[in-house]
Amino acid sequence: MIAVDGPAASGKGTIARALAQHFGLPHMDTGVLYRAAALNLWRWGGDPASEFEAVRACNDLGSNFEDPELRSEAVSKIASSISTYPSVREALLQRQKDFADQPAGAVLDGRDIGTVIAPDADIKLFVTASIEVRAQRRVRELLERGMTAHYEEVVRDLKARDERDSNRLLAPLAKAGDAILLDTSDMDVEAAIAQAIRMVDEKLKLGARR
Ligand code: CDP
Repeated sequence: MIAVDGPAASGKGTIARALAQHFGLPHMDTGVLYRAAALNLWRWGGDPASEFEAVRACNDLGSNFEDPELRSEAVSKIASSISTYPSVREALLQRQKDFADQPAGAVLDGRDIGTVIAPDADIKLFVTASIEVRAQRRVRELLERGMTAHYEEVVRDLKARDERDSNRLLAPLAKAGDAILLDTSDMDVEAAIAQAIRMVDEKLKLGARR
């Protein structure tokens, strides 16, 4: 089982998807669960400051998974904010653990996969990149999706989200002690994917030798 964690727009999702394809494993983007709950709340006009309303929004997520609004900055902000609630994390926990525990293996990406969801993962990657590079990537991604995006605003949002994700009490964004660090600041997508595959191969070889 492969755990991929990292901050917003670090490229962890792209890398996790590519690893899943390369190694023939199913993939779960766990951020989508938090985003789908956030989208429910946003649609209902619910209050992200209410833990009670946020946890109710964790029901009936399925129909949101393909919604383009999932990626909007409004939904990103609400997702980051409600993901600090213990009851929200608890409501979404089992689904992620079950996916991680599939006997044939799986790839999950998120913030707390290597630390909380699957502390026994065979391989843990922590993907990161500088704030400037991450902001450029997120601007490009939003523009490609036909949304508006302003670099300065995206930098501010990413910093606020990093701060909140890293400093929350429960399951904060953190590199697991046994995770391999992959800094993609100076890599394009192909190079980052190739490096991640090399790292996993290396780790598999080491495991096989033991
Ligand atoms: O794509 P990006 O990295 O911007 O965000 P995401 O992975 O889709 O996650 C959206 C938000 O959900 C994050 O800001 C986190 O606060 C939260 N999240 C979390 O708390 N734990 C996870 N395993 C995944 C996401």
